[in-house]
Amino acid sequence: MSKDKENRRDFLYVATAGTGAVIGAAAIWPMINQMNPSADVQALSSIEVDVSGVEPGTQITIKWLGKPVFIRRRTMEEIEAARAVLLEDLPDIDARNANASPSVGETEAFANDANRTLDEIGEWLVMMGVCTHLGCVPLGDAGDFGGWFCPCHGSHYDTAGRIRKGPAPENLPVPVASFIDANTIKLG
Ligand code: FES
Repeated sequence: MSKDKENRRDFLYVATAGTGAVIGAAAIWPMINQMNPSADVQALSSIEVDVSGVEPGTQITIKWLGKPVFIRRRTMEEIEAARAVLLEDLPDIDARNANASPSVGETEAFANDANRTLDEIGEWLVMMGVCTHLGCVPLGDAGDFGGWFCPCHGSHYDTAGRIRKGPAPENLPVPVASFIDANTIKLG
């Protein structure tokens, strides 16, 4: 075999191998791409959170569906303060709770404290940590009502996450959530 032919054969081999690798990668990519969204969605649409380490008077922030979620274990003082508030003193009287059902004859669940919490005693409050004004993340243990304060434009939420003062129009929303055992809250 002449040197020329040998070189040409080597070139063809290299070119073919190279093309094969590119085609292989192109064929695999759509499969990976198709797998990603469903795997992500499955992982994110429902998550379980261990709350065994959350002490009364503290909260944790979980990222869920790309947004912060506050899980607070309230003290007796916080519960009492929230339960003493009259509906007529609330700018938004809707519970904004995905888990609450309206009472018979009513079209909405009202924002009394018992309709906002996860448990009957009212120790556990789970809310999206997104200000209902323009979407900033409010600060905990802050504001005029001892709950949350949004520093962006000065919205004050009480210890039940209800808007009390400032430009935010609605209470912090409570997402679908439930206890699946004594130490675990499931979101979604
Ligand atoms: S975004 Fe919270 S007060 Fe404006």
